[in-house]
Amino acid sequence: MLFVEGPAGGGMAEAIASRLSTGCIKCSSKVFPDGESEVGLGSAVAGQEVMIVQSTYPLQDKRLIELFLLAEDAKSTGASKVGAVVPYLAYARQDRRFEGKANAVSISAILQMMNCSGITTLVTAAPHKNAPLSAFKGTVKVADAITPLAMSLLNDVRAPFVIAPDKGASGISETFARVLGCDSACLEKERDALTGKVRIVDAPKLDLSGRDVVVVDDMISTGGTVVETAKLAKEKGAKRVIAAAVHLLMVGDAHQRLKDAGVSEIYGTNTIQYSKAHIVDISGQFASAIGNMSRNAKQKSAPHA
Ligand code: R5P
Repeated sequence: MLFVEGPAGGGMAEAIASRLSTGCIKCSSKVFPDGESEVGLGSAVAGQEVMIVQSTYPLQDKRLIELFLLAEDAKSTGASKVGAVVPYLAYARQDRRFEGKANAVSISAILQMMNCSGITTLVTAAPHKNAPLSAFKGTVKVADAITPLAMSLLNDVRAPFVIAPDKGASGISETFARVLGCDSACLEKERDALTGKVRIVDAPKLDLSGRDVVVVDDMISTGGTVVETAKLAKEKGAKRVIAAAVHLLMVGDAHQRLKDAGVSEIYGTNTIQYSKAHIVDISGQFASAIGNMSRNAKQKSAPHA
């Protein structure tokens, strides 16, 4: 297997390849004056099983186009198989039609474009809970980013309590609570379809006096969700509020907004390049997901004794 570092690979390809003791190359990449991307692999991939590593943080559309172009190039220059490791899968939040809005189920379209560009294996982490990944025709593997993220907090919390801002994050809060050996709660939030403003509409009765409250989510984008949850935790007596999310998009002034809401520490992973937080390297999780997939594929194709 040969790993290819895409323009937004962020060093992940090299890290996974070295864990699996396999090869890694960098793609060539440039942007024309009018904004078009030019990416390519040269002739290095003929006959090889190729895994393109490309995250899709802003500019999401450009990152996705680069991925599709690389996959097409790999396929048409003779790669025997083309897979993609997409640490952060953009558009996964656009997983249904929202009431009062005219919006496409964009993740389905993105996955169909992956099918068309020849990608037959997709490895990602913490996609949005309801993302209909079944639109992807090949094999999908979700690497476990939540357990190592939770474990990274073990030495930083005293008397912890975990809060999920909405039902979509309840699986994440349960894993955190198990790892940290504490209780958790799940709130209900609402986002205004037009303004994007977040409001907590339901919360259980909680006494968080003296507790280190860990607010967990799959991602932090504008920060609105964590900000509202942190404010509620503070109102209920939290001593400290810590934010932990797999994908730290941290758009605009998100970092400052979290700090202003009383969040003392931010934890995330290296699915996205972000330096102002405690970052957990999850290349090992991607490597084991890919290693398991390869072993299963070999077992399936081995002749029966
Ligand atoms: C939404 O369903 C997601 O799980 C996150 O809660 C959301 O995307 C976070 O966005 P923001 O930081 O803009 O509130």
